[in-house]
Amino acid sequence: MRALTWHGTKDVRVETVDDPEIVNPRDAIIKVSSTAICGSDLHLYDGVIPGMMAGDVLGHEFMGEVVETGPASTLQKGQRVVVPFTISCGGCFHCRIEQYSACENSNPVEKQDASATLYGHPMAGLFGYSHMTGGYSGGQAEYVRVPFSDVGPIVVPDHLEDEKVLFLSDILPTGWMAAENAEIQPDDTVAVWGCGPVGLFAVQAALAMGAARVIAIDHYPHRLELAHKLGAETINFRETHVREALLEMTGGIGVDAAIDAVGMEAHGFAIDNMIDVVKQKVGIGADRASVFKQALLAVRPGGRLSVPGVYGGMTDKFPLGALMEKGITVRAGQTHVQRYTDRLLAMIEEGVLDTTFLISHTLPLEEGPRGYRCFREEQNTWTKVVLKPGMEPEQ
Ligand SMILES: NC(=O)c1ccc[n+]([C@@H]2O[C@H](COP(=O)([O-])OP(=O)(O)OC[C@H]3O[C@@H](n4cnc5c(N)ncnc54)[C@H](O)[C@@H]3O)[C@@H](O)[C@H]2O)c1
Ligand SMILES: [Zn+2]
Ligand SMILES: [Zn+2]
Repeated sequence: MRALTWHGTKDVRVETVDDPEIVNPRDAIIKVSSTAICGSDLHLYDGVIPGMMAGDVLGHEFMGEVVETGPASTLQKGQRVVVPFTISCGGCFHCRIEQYSACENSNPVEKQDASATLYGHPMAGLFGYSHMTGGYSGGQAEYVRVPFSDVGPIVVPDHLEDEKVLFLSDILPTGWMAAENAEIQPDDTVAVWGCGPVGLFAVQAALAMGAARVIAIDHYPHRLELAHKLGAETINFRETHVREALLEMTGGIGVDAAIDAVGMEAHGFAIDNMIDVVKQKVGIGADRASVFKQALLAVRPGGRLSVPGVYGGMTDKFPLGALMEKGITVRAGQTHVQRYTDRLLAMIEEGVLDTTFLISHTLPLEEGPRGYRCFREEQNTWTKVVLKPGMEPEQ
């Protein structure tokens, strides 16, 4: 089959690789109809996530048709499914309390060492996201093996086209959990850093949960415009001092809740970020945490900070004092996708949530490398890229 593979920093290719096969009784094989490139894939593309190997098949946002099932799968051939990026067994301690992204059984034991050493506990399995998370082949491919197919995949009705449901695989629940983790109360003012897909869905979710005001921060005019259309006020951090603006907009108090939807590759020229850029490049410090730090300083005492943005390693010059002295609640994590999918699918069906506005480009899988390059280099207008195996290239 054809699949998009990783070969090093800024080097992804579409190649012919072996077809996936059923390995365990609970597996299913999905024929991919649509798959998206995520901001998280850009961390792999930029080479800042450890544990990648040349030839790994990328992709954790995908959907398609069930074409093969193991004897213990509950799926049926021909069903259309969206697959959560988190691989979860459904039966371990964490799955039973709906903390699916901490599943203890989905990352094979021989792969667990790196994350267990770094984080104190091993990570769960994720599709297409390095050997730290199990080394599973991802869904930017014609076919993909889905383990624990009786737990994760969401069967979607035929009348909802791919573009309406694809993002149930990751960014829609991620935006939702980001807002939930910010513990939004009616009348809250919420600041969201980053107007990428995750930030934009966090804006939508925060407003749906009753936030009185949402202030979205980025430097790309088109992305800020999308946030504005969703109902957010906006700050362009290239033009405006973010913390001062947030104080002014809240009568000197600060925002009630902050959402860091940027993560480890923050842009910007603040001096600490410049040092982190250099350290990341030479591999002696993994994370550029300037947004995390800015958010901690901007949130009001007693406020909440939610961190969907991905961080992978260490950071220094961390304002621990601000966290403690202001009594900030911080909640973070890979999304417990399976916890949210039923509710969000219902909201899509009712027309309460729209996800299609985000898609700026749809390309054949074969043009995946161009999709990565442009999603990285032309972020203003390339807001979300969907790849389709078998799609005819434009003439
Ligand atoms: N927790 C999860 O389960 C989960 C799931 C999906 C994505 N993510 C993470 O969420 C983050 C966002 O994902 P995305 O797909 O929206 O990515 P993206 O790269 O499309 O968007 C990031 C946005 O942040 C903006 N930005 C950069 N520096 C900034 C700064 N200093 N201040 C304000 N904005 C800034 C960029 O301009 C860009 O628009 C990534 O770190 C991604 O890995 C986490
Ligand atoms: Zn993703
Ligand atoms: Zn589990």
